[in-house]
Amino acid sequence: MDEPSPVPNEEALRAEILRLNKIVKSLMNRAERAMSAGGNDFGLFQATVMLEDQVRERTSELEAALQENEKMNLDLQREKEEQRKLFRKLEDAQAQLMQSKKLAAIGQLAAGVAHEINNPIGFVNSNLGTLRKYSSGLLRLIAAYEEAESVPAADSEPKKSVETVKREIGIQYLRDDMLQLIQESIDGCSRVRRIVQDLLDFSRVGDTQWKNADLHDGLNSTLNLVWNELKSKADLVKEYGTIPLVECIPSQINQVFMNLLDNAAQAIPERGTITLRTGSEGEYVWVSVIDTGTGIPPEILPKIFDPFFTTKPLGKGMGLGLSVAFGIVDAHGGRIDVDTRIGEGTAFTVRLPIRRKAG
Ligand SMILES: Nc1ncnc2c1ncn2[C@@H]1O[C@H](COP(=O)(O)OP(=O)(O)O)[C@@H](O)[C@H]1O
Ligand SMILES: [Mg+2]
Repeated sequence: MDEPSPVPNEEALRAEILRLNKIVKSLMNRAERAMSAGGNDFGLFQATVMLEDQVRERTSELEAALQENEKMNLDLQREKEEQRKLFRKLEDAQAQLMQSKKLAAIGQLAAGVAHEINNPIGFVNSNLGTLRKYSSGLLRLIAAYEEAESVPAADSEPKKSVETVKREIGIQYLRDDMLQLIQESIDGCSRVRRIVQDLLDFSRVGDTQWKNADLHDGLNSTLNLVWNELKSKADLVKEYGTIPLVECIPSQINQVFMNLLDNAAQAIPERGTITLRTGSEGEYVWVSVIDTGTGIPPEILPKIFDPFFTTKPLGKGMGLGLSVAFGIVDAHGGRIDVDTRIGEGTAFTVRLPIRRKAG
């Protein structure tokens, strides 16, 4: 913004006017006193009047300057108001931008979720169709067996019909495939459940009860939940220190552990180690989840906490894990630090205040 042209200092102007007024007054007083003292000093009187005129002139000049000054102040005021209006407009525009960004994010979320859910539901649905066919075949087979059971052993006719049904329904193939379909469908359903859970966590409904919790309990129970998926990838090393209870919302903190453990396992290409290390430091307790995985390239490091940022293929990640973790830890007054080396591994360290911070 341009600087306004220098404005005469208003206060100085007022002081000057006051001073001149005082001079006029004291001059007048002196003249009056001289007159009433009987002196006939017309010269002095004249000089006084002249001086007074000069002073009056100067005063009115100064008053004009003062008025000018006030006008300039008014202009400045108007300009300021104008700027404030512009600023407000800018703020509105910014808020709108944020809103549309949010909408875009929600749209992206909806599309991502639809994709993620569509795939497992698709095969669960087709599996159920096949299973219905298998089941009716099996029921036919059971009926044939019942028939065979109800007649004397010598009669071979019912036995033949059992053989026929077995052949017709392809009993050998059905046996193998049926269990596989059921397993696949169960996996598909748990994938859907997980997606829905991710979304719930993202919108953070659910438990919001603050408690004094032992984070080792939280780590262990979270491990119970995810161990089945981790054990094929990693050996687990626990290096628990001595830590005090931490005031937190345990279900949310467990969610953080779960997301970090998930990522750790997914970062390990073949087989590796996941180390859980804990300790306390002043007002804080820290928990590190350390993997011997791929590490994080520096160019993506600034983005890993962004919602929907993922480097994983469809079905593996929605890019919400770290953003949810960040949100939860931030709301607890804590922070997450990352230490990573390409080809060596990554350590995520969660630091939480032992006592809940006000506000
Ligand atoms: N332990 C880790 N090792 C290597 N990369 C990681 C690790 N944790 C997170 N990342 C990177 O950060 C990204 C975002 O993680 P996250 O928010 O959990 O989403 P998602 O796991 O669904 O991709 C991952 O796609 C991955 O590129
Ligand atoms: Mg993840």
